[in-house]
Amino acid sequence: SDQELDRRIREAKRRLGSDLVILGHHYQRDDVIQFADYRGDSLKLAKIAEKLHDVKYIVFCGVHFMAETADTLTTDKQIVVLPDMKAGCSMADMADIDEVEEAWEVIQEEFGDTVIPVTYVNSTAAIKAFVGRHGGTTCTSSNAEAVLKWAFERKKRILFLPDQHLGRNTAYKMGIPLEHMIIWAPETGEFEDDHCHREDVRMILWKGHCSVHQKFLPEHVHRVRERDPEMKVIVHPECSFEVVQLADENGSTDYIIRTIEAAPPGSKWAIGTEVNLVQRLAQEHPEQKIMLLSTTMCPCLTMNRIDRPHLLWALENLVEGNVVNQIKVDPETTHWSKVALDRMLAIQ
Ligand code: 13P
Ligand code: SF4
Repeated sequence: SDQELDRRIREAKRRLGSDLVILGHHYQRDDVIQFADYRGDSLKLAKIAEKLHDVKYIVFCGVHFMAETADTLTTDKQIVVLPDMKAGCSMADMADIDEVEEAWEVIQEEFGDTVIPVTYVNSTAAIKAFVGRHGGTTCTSSNAEAVLKWAFERKKRILFLPDQHLGRNTAYKMGIPLEHMIIWAPETGEFEDDHCHREDVRMILWKGHCSVHQKFLPEHVHRVRERDPEMKVIVHPECSFEVVQLADENGSTDYIIRTIEAAPPGSKWAIGTEVNLVQRLAQEHPEQKIMLLSTTMCPCLTMNRIDRPHLLWALENLVEGNVVNQIKVDPETTHWSKVALDRMLAIQ
C-alpha cells in the first residue's frame, strides 16, 4: 500500500542516515519529491551535488543526464544512483556524439575557427565532454543568456546543442535576428532551410527539442486569453519561438517558481511547463488562479518513471550494502565534461 511504501522509504532513509542525500528535480511527482533532502532545478541541483563531499550515496530523483552531471561534479567517494535507468531525456538523446562529431567537421569546413560549441545541460556527458574539449561550455535555462554572452565574447558563432528552442529564444532575446540563425538537421546531416548568407550566421541550432514543452501551441495562448483576458501566460524557453513570443513571460523552471511566489493574491496564470510542477504551484498558491497552458496533460514521462517502488528498491539495496543503478561516467569523459561544467559555474 501507499502507506507501507512511505513507511519503508522513511525507514531506509533513517538507516542510511548521513551517508545518504536524495536530490529531487521540480518535475518529480509529489509522492517522490516529498522524500527529497534538496529540491531544485537542474542548475541548483548540480551546485548542491558539487558540495556533498561527506556523503556516500546521492540518490538522484530526476533524469539520467542530471545524475551524470552529479557524478561528474563529485569525487570518487560519492556514489550516484538513479532509481530507474529508463529515466532518460528524449531531448538529450537527440544529440548523439557521433552525429555531433560529423556535424562539427562540416561546420569547421564552412566556418573555420569562428564557432564555439555550447550545450544545454540536457545532454549526455559525452556531449558535455565534446564542448569541453573544443573550448565551449554548458548552460541551463536559468543562465543561458549569460553563457551565450560569454561565448560570443570568444567567437562570432555558436553551435548550440541540443535544444533549438532554448538556443533560438535566448539568442533572439539578445538581439540576434532569426535570419542569422540556421538549423543543423542531424537526420540529413545538412543545414535546413538555409537562406542565410554564410557571413551573417551567428547561431547554428541543433535540431533537437523537448517533446513535453513542444506540445504547447500558439492556439493554447489565444484560447486562455479569449476566455479570460486577465490571465497571464508564463512559459519555459524550451517552448517554440511562436509560443514564447506570445507569452507575457518566459524563463527557467526557477524563474517560473520565483515569479509565482512574488505575484500578488488574485493573480491568474496559465503556465507552459511540466504538469507536476504546475499542479504543485497551484496547490501551494491557492490565493492565485493557476492552470496548465494546454488542456491535455503533459507530464515528462521519463521524469515520472521515478516512482516510490523504484526509490524504495534503490534505498533498501543501499541499506543492504548493494549499489544498484550506479551512474558512473568514465574518467576521460568526466575530465572534459567537468571542464565544460566548471566554465559554466564560473560564469555565474
Ligand atoms: P531546468 O533546467 O529548468 O531544471 O529544466 C530541466 C528540464 O528538463 C526542463 O525540461
Ligand atoms: Fe527532457 Fe523535456 Fe523531460 Fe526536461 S521535460 S527531462 S527536456 S524530456
